[in-house]
Amino acid sequence: MFEPQGTRSLRPPVAALQVTYRRMSESITTESIIGRHDRFMSINYPRYPIAMARGEGCHLWDTDGKRYLDLFAGFGSGLLGHCHPALVDAVMRQAGTLWHSGNLFHNEPQTRAAEAIARHGFDGRSYFCHAGADANEAAIKLARLYGNTRPGPAGKRFKVISCSQSFHGRTFGTMPATGQPAVAADYEPHLPGFVQVLFNNLDAVRQQIDDQTVAILVEPIQGEGGVNVPDDDYLPALRRLCDERDLLLICDEVWTGCGRTGQYFAHQHWLADAPPDVMTLAKGVGGGLPVGVMCAKPNLAELNNAIAQGTVRHASTLGGNCLSMAVTAAIFDVLERDQLVQHAAELGQHAMNRLGQFAGTCHQVTQVRGHGLFIGVELTTAVKPIVQRCLELGVNINGTQETVLRLAPPLVISKEQLDEGLDVIECVVAAAD
Ligand SMILES: Cc1ncc(COP(=O)(O)O)c(C=O)c1O
Repeated sequence: MFEPQGTRSLRPPVAALQVTYRRMSESITTESIIGRHDRFMSINYPRYPIAMARGEGCHLWDTDGKRYLDLFAGFGSGLLGHCHPALVDAVMRQAGTLWHSGNLFHNEPQTRAAEAIARHGFDGRSYFCHAGADANEAAIKLARLYGNTRPGPAGKRFKVISCSQSFHGRTFGTMPATGQPAVAADYEPHLPGFVQVLFNNLDAVRQQIDDQTVAILVEPIQGEGGVNVPDDDYLPALRRLCDERDLLLICDEVWTGCGRTGQYFAHQHWLADAPPDVMTLAKGVGGGLPVGVMCAKPNLAELNNAIAQGTVRHASTLGGNCLSMAVTAAIFDVLERDQLVQHAAELGQHAMNRLGQFAGTCHQVTQVRGHGLFIGVELTTAVKPIVQRCLELGVNINGTQETVLRLAPPLVISKEQLDEGLDVIECVVAAAD
């Protein structure tokens, strides 16, 4: 039977640390944490009135000691679950060795992480930063450099086509690429050169390409948009279109990268032999630490080559710091060692089958979609109360786009754990109005 190492009990040093934390935190109450949060923090997220205190594998415990089965893993960031022994080892070893020497020096963890991304992805060169928006900013800047070197009849090309309901970040560069109007509202004037078209519609893309277009930015499966899976011919057709029109195909794999969908990178479901020109990663690639990656084909990475270009084009002081990179490299080691990508594919299929059968008996479910352990359940009813009820029953799930229930458990989850979570979800959904 499958038993990924992350589901075993934590090793003694980690367990000891957690006991120490528990002792330290005995006097800390949920109320005091929330009260101090509201007094001292910028309230930029609506939060549940729960303070999480610790995690192990696929479980979280709040300050009051209540246990939750975590089927959302911090927006997918906890790819290997909480405090995975191999990641704890990697952090502890690296923490006592070297944190950051600055990017004027080489270091082994950074190189190893880049090697792993190229080995499992395509022959790309990685640039490391801290977040998904960071990685997409880098990709948009790279597209501009490409457009300078390959101008059209109207001069430099700089326009980027992305999709409605997409999410690419909240920075000034990524906000106008994000296809959710609420994200960019009230921050006008926006950076020019962005247009959105319907997802999964090739004609819509064709109609928007003009002499200034340089790139198409697309999530292989839309995450924040509701786990929207395109038709099988969509990405291959986009790839061909990009080749015909000399456009860069940029795949935003911030949600879908690193095995989550049952392939190392989701574009591999459709573009196994013709990868994107640029791929961006974040969330799972850091396993809970802030890591962003832009991986670009060698000819494009050359545009950022500080030596060849005679100047630093794009950079980040702490990008690729040893501590984060040791974790990123260890994540790929564990994915490979424990065959977790295959596990995600198989368990995802099990969950899709089970939820599909449930949908046949429950009028509140109109569609189940996804790949691997990235699953969306479209409901006829508001998703918020369902998420709330599941939390009360000790299962952490997520809702997006008002009516889509979203599951993204750690890839180390066992079939028994997943079924336990699905039992709760099905009961709660069936009981909803
Ligand atoms: C597909 C995608 N790209 C980019 C981002 C932005 O990532 P970050 O929040 O790490 O900046 C997100 C965030 O949810 C995302 O889902």
